[in-house]
Amino acid sequence: MRTRSLGPFGVEVLDVDASRLLEDDDLPGACLEALEEHGVLLFRELHADDAVQAAFGRRLGELVRFPAYANPEVMEISFDPANPNAEYFASNDYWHIDGAMDAIPAKAALLSARVLASEGGETEFASTYTAYDLLSDREKADYADLRVLHTFEAVQRRAYPEPTPEQLAEWASRKVREHPLVWSHASGRRSLVFGVTASHVIGTDSRELLDELEARATTPDRVLRHAWSVGDLVIWDNRGLVHRACPFDRTEPRRMHRTTLRGDEPIS
Ligand code: OGA
Ligand code: MN
Repeated sequence: MRTRSLGPFGVEVLDVDASRLLEDDDLPGACLEALEEHGVLLFRELHADDAVQAAFGRRLGELVRFPAYANPEVMEISFDPANPNAEYFASNDYWHIDGAMDAIPAKAALLSARVLASEGGETEFASTYTAYDLLSDREKADYADLRVLHTFEAVQRRAYPEPTPEQLAEWASRKVREHPLVWSHASGRRSLVFGVTASHVIGTDSRELLDELEARATTPDRVLRHAWSVGDLVIWDNRGLVHRACPFDRTEPRRMHRTTLRGDEPIS
């Protein structure tokens, strides 16, 4: 697999076409290894259809199923009112880890561009391994045992800053999830767990530290911004990155197709 660096992290894969995705027996292993090392893999204008994208996903791991979609291995990301999840995609604009409210977040995701907005709609990535590495030794020691509450309310508050009592009650009825701030991975690496789902550090009632850590990890020099062409496929390591969608006109029919690899490592 020939690759080229994309910037602060991430690589473009130069010599893979859609047929090689399914036929090259060494490719899945090489991709998983490259994903651990580089965080993001970009295949430009690959034009893999849903069947090929899902089949390649299955070669990389076990897929999360989305029963609400015609192909349950491919979630459509769009603001089309017919999209069963349209109302939840607004929060994709904020830095997040997919499945951060789950016991075990997704391992990785494959996202391809099908219809683009005329302007904006890029996707940005930032490394949460780097976020940990940026801490001073003193901070590493101070934050080693911090725990963070992740809530649906924290996500919704961004979209609806002045909620009604009814909204608050509905949000409060959702399950919450506590995670350590520092994720000590099976690989031996460490990353920070923050993003839009993070409500506050347990015992502080404050989001201040979470905001500060996020801001340090997502300065422009540390962000990989991908400006899409139709047919591009990007795979990201969801355990060591946060990502977000850049703004675009939501009345335009931007549509992305996502295939998600089930996680196998709880945040601990
Ligand atoms: C996602 C996501 C960002 C985008 O599909 O999980 O966050 O740019 N997408 O559509
Ligand atoms: Mn996402």
